Amino acid sequence: MTTLPLSTSERLKRSEDDGSNASSNTSIGDIIAKRISRRDLGRGLLAASVVPALLPSLDAFANPAPAENGAAVPRAFAFDELSAGSDTTHHVAPGYDADVLIRWGDAVEAGAPAFDARAQSAASQAKQFGYNNDFIGFLPIEGRSDHGLLVVNHEYTIEELMFPTVERQDKRAAFAKMTPELIAIEMMAHGGSVIEVMRRDGKWHVVENSRYARRITAETEMRISGPAAGHAKMQTRANPDGRKVLGMLNNCSGAVTPWGTWLTCEENINGYFWNKAARDQHPQAAALKRYGIPDEWFNWGQYHKRFDIAAEPNEPHRFGWVVEIDPFDPASVPVKRTALGRFKHEGAGNTLNKDGRFVVYQGDDERFDYVYKFVTDAKVDLANPRANADILDSGTLYVARFLEDGRGLWLPLVHGRGQLTPALGFADQGDVVIFARQAADMLGATKMDRPEDIEVNPRTNKVYVMLTKNDKRKANQVDAANPRAESQFGHIIEITPDDGDHAATTFSWEILVKCGDPSIAAVGATFNPLTSKDGWFGTPDNCAVDALGRLWVATDGNSASRTGRTDGIWALETDGAARGTSKLFFRVPVGAEMCGPFFTPDMETLFVAVQHPGEADDDASDAPPATFEAPSTRWPDFKDGVPPRPSVVAITRKGGGKIAV
Ligand code: FEO
Ligand code: CA
Ligand code: CA
Ligand code: CA
Repeated sequence: MTTLPLSTSERLKRSEDDGSNASSNTSIGDIIAKRISRRDLGRGLLAASVVPALLPSLDAFANPAPAENGAAVPRAFAFDELSAGSDTTHHVAPGYDADVLIRWGDAVEAGAPAFDARAQSAASQAKQFGYNNDFIGFLPIEGRSDHGLLVVNHEYTIEELMFPTVERQDKRAAFAKMTPELIAIEMMAHGGSVIEVMRRDGKWHVVENSRYARRITAETEMRISGPAAGHAKMQTRANPDGRKVLGMLNNCSGAVTPWGTWLTCEENINGYFWNKAARDQHPQAAALKRYGIPDEWFNWGQYHKRFDIAAEPNEPHRFGWVVEIDPFDPASVPVKRTALGRFKHEGAGNTLNKDGRFVVYQGDDERFDYVYKFVTDAKVDLANPRANADILDSGTLYVARFLEDGRGLWLPLVHGRGQLTPALGFADQGDVVIFARQAADMLGATKMDRPEDIEVNPRTNKVYVMLTKNDKRKANQVDAANPRAESQFGHIIEITPDDGDHAATTFSWEILVKCGDPSIAAVGATFNPLTSKDGWFGTPDNCAVDALGRLWVATDGNSASRTGRTDGIWALETDGAARGTSKLFFRVPVGAEMCGPFFTPDMETLFVAVQHPGEADDDASDAPPATFEAPSTRWPDFKDGVPPRPSVVAITRKGGGKIAV
């Protein structure tokens, strides 16, 4: 048996290889529906536009093209395409600047010492920008697009790139070089950051000593709310009432809300838990297995017993949630909103429904897992943001079933309905949300090709679902919504809610694009032929919809060896004759993935997150993993001895102006 070293991103993907969904639902078998994509060019783009108050007026943009119905529609992306490729630095389309705004180790909280990778400490890291920035949200101050708060997730740590002489530490290395102090640094490098940012003379900078500056870590005290708060399966020795927890883990993507809060989403929590040998004796052994817990990517559990499933059996239930944080109040206690369900959350793309209720779309990023949405009971009160403080605690969680004919159903995960009964193991709604995966299995949800980010286009009410790939789907497991066996490059689904109502329980869907190199017939990619050789991409992961209602896609999984290009940001047409045309705007340095695309409301700035720069090329796993001493790039500092640093980059137009308009 070969024991090739795995890059960290490969290691993180390894659990997905297991495909922990062994349920028998949606056994589509040999149904292979080759539906023709219905590119209904005549469908009204603006037929059901909502929340105009949250978006800049289209009148602000010059020369909108008239649509058939007479309404203004967004123009195509106006920029000169970047060339695809792979090298040690980042690149943006001609005419734009892409400036590093903040790097791992830069100061966040007052008193943070200057970054010194060779003398790092947990106390320093607790005040400095964390590792592996992922989601970015911009929250304007006083409605401004040149002054606001950036909220940033720090998903995970990579010991061999962060620490000198440590190299890869995993089970094979018996974590021999991981000391309690290195683990403490890792714990402080997780979580999130709140920074105040300002644009002056065209350039962004971090406001020093801001009263908003805050680090959230793996030890920040948080409150548990919603149906699982106080539940018997949430109680631990440290917290007998089951209403408090320390920290958030593996926060991947996220979102901001119309009332000015940050939703930050816990994803691969399985890797933090310890003691596989004890799993079969655990009272919820089957549930742990369904969530891939414990996966022992980190050995925190050897020093922090709450991560040992034998010592603290309920601690895993307290992770895997959407966390809501008020970034405008640095003293606020983050809240784990359990009504939204527990799984490997990618993000929390959302919209204000036409009836005023808040709807959050959610992907559970694992091979063969599901797409969810949550609909609040109450209406959002935009006039009084504080009135929405607990709106996410009451509502209905649904999971999606994609039918073969292009229709779909949202199935409610409500205790007492269908099979979600005590007789079948769900004593109450707390059980339903804590074990949302098994509840969704019972309802017959559709097993998807790793659902990542989901975003709503509020101008059209269409919903875009990034499905990154699923190389474990066999030919007899394909279905209309996941049509490729051994999908290496993923696809994007477009959902259209019935009647433009995001609370509706029925919808239509179609595939916007199957990804990969269109010049290789066997790949089966379906980009619009207008797409250039630089314009196609594989493995969509994050996405953003700009103020004009245009879709931008960020990728995770392109590399020189896989696709001849690094990850990046692609602009993807969704409407009209150009639908399915993609165009490269920005690309990352070697080893990195692209995260966090987020526009300021005026569309003059696109913030992006460059995650894990300096790793080895993903497919070159027979080579030694990149290390602190020998990374694949020293981006962005390019100084001998200084390791690569995950960083946020601000993209602006040279001389000012809106992006791609
Ligand atoms: Fe953290 Fe699904 O990517
Ligand atoms: Ca992601
Ligand atoms: Ca997004
Ligand atoms: Ca990713």
